[in-house]
Amino acid sequence: MSHPFDLGPEPDEFAEEEHQLAKSGLNLELSRRRFVQAAGVLSAVATVGLPGPLFGEKPATSGQAVTLKVNGQTQALNVDPRTSLLDALREKLDMTGTKKGCDHGQCGACTVLIDGRRVNSCLTLAVAAEGAEITTIEGLAKSADPKDISELHPVQAAFLQHDGYQCGYCTPGQICSAVAAIEEQKQGALSIVSFHTGNTDHPDLSDDEIRERMSGNICRCGAYPNIVAAVRAASKGATV
Ligand code: FES
Ligand code: FES
Repeated sequence: MSHPFDLGPEPDEFAEEEHQLAKSGLNLELSRRRFVQAAGVLSAVATVGLPGPLFGEKPATSGQAVTLKVNGQTQALNVDPRTSLLDALREKLDMTGTKKGCDHGQCGACTVLIDGRRVNSCLTLAVAAEGAEITTIEGLAKSADPKDISELHPVQAAFLQHDGYQCGYCTPGQICSAVAAIEEQKQGALSIVSFHTGNTDHPDLSDDEIRERMSGNICRCGAYPNIVAAVRAASKGATV
């Protein structure tokens, strides 16, 4: 199979034929052949596009130095400026607790905390997180190497105690999101449920409030009832 950039026979393969055509006064046929040859090249370009450098496109950059503070540790990296925080965590820092679900900001599997606020790390550029305190699921537990449930973060413990997961893929994002959601409620942040119920003066974290505030985190296993139970328990301090 010929490559799209195979431009046909080399010009000198036409040379003898063209010489004969010219000698016979068939200059029109000569022009037609050259036109067809050029049209073939142009249609190949239209189909696959010219290589970037031919259009002056800049080659991919070699990298940008960025310093991230993740779970209290300073990490110096060199990343393509387009690298998401999610990819930097997983591929550069080998912190695979944060999961990639949709990579489009729709599932919440990649949720981490930046300065205590939950964000979708798939939609956050690593370079934009420089200077911030990033907390991932690996940094939540009370101890770096927890040996039992009492050494976990209370939300982690609640998820264990209430079976707030099945396959566990969404769980790191759910837990990070729940940590921030509980804190947001403590600070008096409102949700759309607060307005629907008219309870806009420091509303409790009711099950409806939990469902609404956790609605950015999808669980494909449908472990929602237990996730709500875990968040409810953690918000009331009803865990170890
Ligand atoms: S992977 Fe980021 S929201 Fe789905
Ligand atoms: S536990 Fe499987 S996706 Fe939530």
